[in-house]
Amino acid sequence: PNDHTEEKKSSWWLNRLIGRTKKTVTVDWPYPFVEGKLFVLTLSAGLEGYHVNVDGRHITSFPYRTGFALEDATGLALNGDIDVNAVFAASLPSTHPSFAPQRHLEMSDKWRAPPFPDGPVDMFIGVLSAGNHFAERMAVRKSWMQHSLIKSSRVVARFFVALHARKEVNIELKKEAEFFGDIVIVPYMDSYDLVVLKTVAICEYGVRTVSAKYIMKCDDDTFVRVDSSLNEANKIGDGKSLYIGNMNYYHKPLRSGKWSVTYEEWPEEDYPPYANGPGYIISSDVADFIATEFEERKLKLFKMEDVSMGMWVGQFNSTKRVEYVHNSKFCQFGCIEDYYTAHYQSPRQMLCMWHKLQIYGRPQCCNMR
Ligand SMILES: *[C@@H]1O[C@H](CO)[C@@H](O)[C@H](O)[C@H]1NC(C)=O
Repeated sequence: PNDHTEEKKSSWWLNRLIGRTKKTVTVDWPYPFVEGKLFVLTLSAGLEGYHVNVDGRHITSFPYRTGFALEDATGLALNGDIDVNAVFAASLPSTHPSFAPQRHLEMSDKWRAPPFPDGPVDMFIGVLSAGNHFAERMAVRKSWMQHSLIKSSRVVARFFVALHARKEVNIELKKEAEFFGDIVIVPYMDSYDLVVLKTVAICEYGVRTVSAKYIMKCDDDTFVRVDSSLNEANKIGDGKSLYIGNMNYYHKPLRSGKWSVTYEEWPEEDYPPYANGPGYIISSDVADFIATEFEERKLKLFKMEDVSMGMWVGQFNSTKRVEYVHNSKFCQFGCIEDYYTAHYQSPRQMLCMWHKLQIYGRPQCCNMR
């Protein structure tokens, strides 16, 4: 769905279609279901969006959500009082419908990364991204990466992208990386379980390649206020070790469901205190500890990168005191007024938020998708 109303409308439609199989109703359109009768519903992912047919007749269509990659769809949910007899997955597309880098990327010099700084920098921002997220990266480049602190190379930002399962995506990704100069390609296949390796790569890059005072990690759907985030770190004072973000204390692993964590993966009852993944900052000594432990093959890895970070900072804290700073302005669930970081922002929202920052000088949310 393209936006919230569209989404509501189409799911309402679908619910109505399926939900009404229970009772007899009069409708003024060709109602495709009869109680107790079998039917075949076909959901196809076409050029422009999803199309729903029942028994060969077109019922409804809705467009793809902006910035949404078809590969992100990992499940199909059905609502209502129906029995599913069989599900077939057939003729899955061999080309990605939203795979159109030339449609998203704007090959203009003004969006290229500034020249690599000679000396140390104040902060390094590592942005986790997926190979086919061309639109997301472009929106970040055109919005908060235009901040004067980044333009003047006092803050450096890079995307961290692993290899995609599809060769065509990697070819385009390499071209994109060469042109914009802001992508670090980490040499393994992208998978949820290996995301934590990108975090290690961010630490390594931030201290070994860039020599930054602070290292920040975020996602490609995180809008970052670069100056406010850096200010938060600067407030702590020189020489101190720090870990700043939206902190979770006494969280426990989920032991059932889709996101469950086995006792083998995480034997303890609790997670260590950890900052939510979409936006946190550590000092360079902590990042250096992580990179060194990794190089010496001593670093313990857990699939959730934010919990891993909490664990590593905890280890570091047992030798040198770390200032843990909780601030809910590093917003995890979306956008709040006066945010430092906002999460789940679509490419359109990114551009809108940047625009609002420029015009009003105030951090304001954008509520469209
Ligand atoms: C960090 O270390 C200090 C001093 O040993 C300790 O009091 C504190 O509880 C530790 N913090 C965390 C979050 O582990």
